[in-house]
Amino acid sequence: MKDIEQLLQNNKQWSEKVRTKHPDFFPKLAKQQSPKFLWIGCSDSRVPANQITGLLPGEIFVHRNIANLVINTDINLLSVLQFAIEVLKIQHIIVCGHYGCGGVANALQRNTTGIIDFWLNNIRDTYRKHATAFTEEMPEIERLNLLTELNVKQQVENLSNCSIISDAWKQGQALYLHGWVYSIQDGIIKDLEITRQGEPSA
Ligand code: CO
Repeated sequence: MKDIEQLLQNNKQWSEKVRTKHPDFFPKLAKQQSPKFLWIGCSDSRVPANQITGLLPGEIFVHRNIANLVINTDINLLSVLQFAIEVLKIQHIIVCGHYGCGGVANALQRNTTGIIDFWLNNIRDTYRKHATAFTEEMPEIERLNLLTELNVKQQVENLSNCSIISDAWKQGQALYLHGWVYSIQDGIIKDLEITRQGEPSA
């Protein structure tokens, strides 16, 4: 039980530290959250959204799943998306993948079975779509990095095809979609520069 008790101990210390430094921090946050950003990232424990973007509680709305996928039948993701756009009026949605992603590696190497295999089939579809870009002489690491980036691009594309987002754009809501990849080697985020926004209404 030692490990789990440590978490609660850490929490008490953290709360005390925050309250000493900023007495109005919790009372203010308790009233409402108004984050400008929605993060769709991988569940990987090495890629915590708040820490790597330097944001405090209340500043970023977060959804994470294995390999940061946007599937248009995923009721969990769609609910997050609807709430973020319609209620929180989020302005930026960031899909952030990461190099060294186990989900991407498993999709390429086919060494998983069970329900996760079904989930990772979405990445295999992306691989097949771009199969000609993966040449025989490419080292494995390059293949994985390329698929990681293509996967993020595909998820941004999937987002732009979601009716929740196209409806928001039609109504003139300011909403930007971004594709990023985080490096677990040096902690740096690479912007894939595929930012999308709705067509300005005529
Ligand atoms: Co991952």
